[in-house]
Amino acid sequence: MNNNKYAIILAAGDGKRMKSDKPKVLAQVLFYPMLGWVLDAVKAADIDNTAVIVGSHKEQVTAYLDSIGGYPFFEQKERLGTGHAVMQAMPFINEAAANNADILVACGDAPFIDAGTIASSYEYHKAENNDVTVVSAIVDDPTGYGRIIKENGAFSAIVEQKDCTEEQAEIKEINSGIYWFRADKLSALLDTLSNNNAAGEYYLTDTVAAAEKKGVYTATSADVVLGANSRSQLAALNDTARRRKLAELMDEGVDIPLSDGIIIGKDVKIGADTVILPNTIIKGNTVIGKNCEIGPNSYIENCVAEDNVTLNNVQAHDSKIDSGAKAGPFVHLRPGTHLHSGVKIGDFVEVKNSEVGINTCIAHLTYIGDSDVGKGVNFGCGCVTANYDGIKKYRTTIGDNAFIGCNTNMIAPVTIGDNATTAAGSTITKDVPADSLAVERGQTRIIENWEKNKKRIKKA
Ligand code: UD1
Ligand code: CA
Repeated sequence: MNNNKYAIILAAGDGKRMKSDKPKVLAQVLFYPMLGWVLDAVKAADIDNTAVIVGSHKEQVTAYLDSIGGYPFFEQKERLGTGHAVMQAMPFINEAAANNADILVACGDAPFIDAGTIASSYEYHKAENNDVTVVSAIVDDPTGYGRIIKENGAFSAIVEQKDCTEEQAEIKEINSGIYWFRADKLSALLDTLSNNNAAGEYYLTDTVAAAEKKGVYTATSADVVLGANSRSQLAALNDTARRRKLAELMDEGVDIPLSDGIIIGKDVKIGADTVILPNTIIKGNTVIGKNCEIGPNSYIENCVAEDNVTLNNVQAHDSKIDSGAKAGPFVHLRPGTHLHSGVKIGDFVEVKNSEVGINTCIAHLTYIGDSDVGKGVNFGCGCVTANYDGIKKYRTTIGDNAFIGCNTNMIAPVTIGDNATTAAGSTITKDVPADSLAVERGQTRIIENWEKNKKRIKKA
């Protein structure tokens, strides 16, 4: 564990303008909470000691923190400003000071902070031996941000929008809300804060004027400041993140001939020469191999697809698709599905919690649930594994090279042996031994002259 770098993430704000029952820091960019983006960047910058300030909707925020492995947090009971938020973490600040560490402070609602900016600003901060380093950005429209004030070229203070003179309001270099503090100086700096300002808040930014040794590190991309206070700003963040991710993938050799409706989550990995077609959403921990064709109109979540896989109009969740397997169009792969290599799944087929062996073919209108299907099995049209008796679920086992006739119902638990055949229309309630044929079907009775008697067909 690296004990020289600590981080405090501010995540107590209300986010009133979102008009949501959820906390703003959990609003999603590319299906991933903004707070998660920030915590991932901090972790990627090799900072292991991170605490989060929670307040508004704290149950939801702490539940999220638990769900990603747990972070220490401090509660800010009232929203009295960013300086007040940091003051809640005194035990953490003292621990950092005892380790001669520096503390990164960042906001949980500005997701585009990146490990590179964190690392470079830290290097600058150490090289200059600063008490506080502020990460700034140059923006076209500085409205709403704290301005970086320089006197005779030297950084002297941050002035908030509400407290700016007209002249200060023109300044386009702004505070990103990301800072490095020398831990052993932070508590004394926090002691200097008052709420004697336009907002009546304890501004963390006022620590700058009080600090002896201070500096500004200007971020290379102005995106680091981007945050979302409203739904339309959130949409803008999504748009930026979406384009960025697609550009990254294209740089790695992924083919996206038309990006319409394509949204790919931040952690998704895709191999070279894979084509992604319109209206395709790929999210979660999905990994897709090389030379695949995904889409159009597909929704893939937490799946692993190997090379040469085709998924056309497929919804797939928590599934594994081995090399060369093909699914679609109109296929639903539900959690726990594993299609082995060379499998073919055709239209209107649902597979759930099942192994489907090499080269097996399930071409039309079929439900396979809770099943272990062998290699080279062929399903006719309209087969169903009846896995649920209304109380419990049971498994169906189908051996290698079995031939399941059209409209076969398999009432689980049931086993169909290797090379066995079921006759079309059969409802199989007993195990079928290997190499045999199971037929469950009434005799066909023929009643002659039926139509003539019913006079359905009009005489010419
Ligand atoms: C803050 C900075 C401003 C900077 C901007 C960058 C101050 C006084 N101003 O302004 O200079 O340009 O960020 O985005 O710091 N929070 C709490 N508790 C509070 C108040 C805020 O935890 O009592 C959290 C919020 O959840 C948010 C972050 O702190 O994650 C920033 O707060 P916000 O109110 O959005 O600050 P800004 O007005 O944007
Ligand atoms: Ca803000």
